[in-house]
Order: sequence, then C-alpha cells, then structure tokens
Amino acid sequence: MKINNRRYTGSKYKLMPWIKEIILKKCPKRSILFDVFGGTGVVTAELLDVFDSAIINDFLYSNEVIYNAFFGKEKINEKKLSTFEKKYNSIERVKLEDNYISDNFGGKFFKYNDSKLIGFIREDIENALNKKTINKREFNVLLASLLYSLDRCANTVGHYDAYIKGKEIRADFIFELIEPIITNKEVKIYRMDANILAKSVSADVAFVDPPYNSRQYSRFYHVLETITKWDKPKLTGTAMKPPEENMSEYCRNSAPETFDDLIKNLNVKYIVVTYNNTYDSKSSSSRNKITLEQIKEILNRKGRTEVFEKEYHRFNAGKTDTTEHKEMVFITEVMNKNG
Ligand SMILES: C[S@@+](CC[C@H](N)C(=O)[O-])C[C@H]1O[C@@H](n2cnc3c(N)ncnc32)[C@H](O)[C@@H]1O
Repeated sequence: MKINNRRYTGSKYKLMPWIKEIILKKCPKRSILFDVFGGTGVVTAELLDVFDSAIINDFLYSNEVIYNAFFGKEKINEKKLSTFEKKYNSIERVKLEDNYISDNFGGKFFKYNDSKLIGFIREDIENALNKKTINKREFNVLLASLLYSLDRCANTVGHYDAYIKGKEIRADFIFELIEPIITNKEVKIYRMDANILAKSVSADVAFVDPPYNSRQYSRFYHVLETITKWDKPKLTGTAMKPPEENMSEYCRNSAPETFDDLIKNLNVKYIVVTYNNTYDSKSSSSRNKITLEQIKEILNRKGRTEVFEKEYHRFNAGKTDTTEHKEMVFITEVMNKNG
C-alpha cells in the first residue's frame, strides 16, 4: 500500500500534478519545504523530488506514525516484517479472545471477528516493541500498515464520525504492509500545533492546507487515534469516541484570527495556500470558517499574492447532477522585512 491509499477528507492527492506545476513555476528557491498541515503526507511525498529536504507536521498521533513509517530513516528488515504479515493473516480470528477493540468497535466499525484480530495485532505490535524484537521504525511500519489495512474494511463512508447502521458489514480485514518511500532526502517530522511550530521553523516554501470548516479531524479519525495511542480510554456515545483532544481552532469561529497569526509568524520565502469555494454550502458543518476575502487580505499583508483556479465538478449520486466547485491556490511571495 502506498501513502495515498487511504481515505482522508481534504487530501490533495488528485490536485498534486496541478499544484506541483504552479510551485515549480512560481517558487524558484526550493531548498526546504514546510508542509504545515500534513494530513496524509501526500503533498510532501509528491514534492520531495523538487526540494532538498522537508519538514512535515500534523497534530494527529496517527499521522505522525504514518509519516515515520513512510519517510523514516532507521533501517527495516523487510523479511522480518513479511513474517509478521504472514502470521497475522493466518490467525483464526474466531478463536481469539475478546479485547479492547472487539469490546468497543466489534459489529460497529468492523466485523466482530475482524475487530478481535485488529485488537490482537495492535497488542502484538506493542509487545514486539517492548521485547525489542522490532525497532521503532519497524513498529511504525507495522502500526501504519494496521491503520491502512483497517481503513480498507471499515464500515464507514470514509471517516469515523459514524458507522453505517442496518446493513451487513461486507469487507473483510486483511493485513497488508505499507511500502515505505525510498529517498535519501531528510524529512523532519513534528506533531505540534501549527501556530506554535511556525514560530520556530524557517524554510523556503510553506504549504498551508488547514481545515476550512467545523469538522474536527481528531473526531473524524478518532478510531485511528485510539488505536495509535493505545492508552485504552473509556469510549462514549454511539460512535465510541475518546475524550476530546486536539480540537482545532481552524474549525471554530476564531479561524480567521488563527490563520492570520500563523501567516504572520511564518518565516519563509513563499506561502502556498489551498482553498475551495464551499463557503456558501447549505450544510453549516461544511461551510467555510474563513472567507476568500479574508484569506486574500491576510496574505496580501505578507506579500504579493497570485491566485490560481481550477474548476472541479463534483458528481452527486444522481450522476447527471453536478455541483460547481472551485479549487484555488494562492501563492504569496513574502516581502523582505528589510524592504
Ligand atoms: C485539509 S487537511 C490537510 C490535507 C493534506 N494536505 C493532504 O493532502 O492530505 C488539514 C490537516 O490539518 C490538521 N490540523 C488541524 N488543525 C491543526 C493544528 N492546529 N495544528 C496542526 N495540525 C492541524 C488536521 O489533522 C488535518 O490533517
């Protein structure tokens, strides 16, 4: 499985050929890339060949593990990892005992017997690390592989805010290894609040792709967070969510001020911001928290800003029905503070 083989709201994977072309044209200095809101990591993965090195950040625990798995430098023993893969796929899940995952998510997000296997694998990976049978990078590869594999069979519409009810869960869980990215370029990984990290990083290009509506990523991907952290908290509600953590200011009414604070503090030559025009969306949770005008105004204070647009037809279930949808890229050439 490759880095883009996961379902993630707001992933820029499909737009990357277009975005990359704009960056190549408009950002001639490309030593260090700063992917401020890394998400899946596909932006860094797709741009790494046109930069000397990269810094990637996201405040989710699961994304940090995924970055360490794909971009890490510590050596991994592929043969050993294949042995784990074979072992996991040959376990008779019916015979396994109940565990934290089957108790909480069985018959909901996953088939009951699959959930027993998922819980068993998570515990086994933890034990292997504690016994030093695997190194930290191998641990990250196995855990990221578990996250990618379970995402494939999850009984959801793509995120974990709710599971699909009243239908038989179709997909079966199969454990498959991810394919780490082979590169000699350095990728520094952070799990921090973007606004705090921005104050201590300097780079050539900052790629800024924050959430633009009230949907909190830590709640959307809580199952992945719970499985990654493995501190087994009490889960509540129909969707079995953990206590709140990493609630983003970008999803609240304070988003414009938070965005302004980030842009002010970025110490880079160019700022690339992606945006789409769903501001007027009918559903309030998908309505943008920052307007187009606010973004333009904030970026213009930092330097000369150009806007690039791409029409994007989103097909509704009816197929004949299309919704007008525009993707935008802003590129700001940051003004030299000394004039
Ligand atoms: C639109 S997604 C980025 C998608 C990414 N460009 C991709 O192509 O996969 C926004 C990301 O910002 C992260 N995020 C939200 N608020 C944050 C904050 N204050 N600090 C760091 N990360 C944050 C979310 O976890 C989410 O992964």
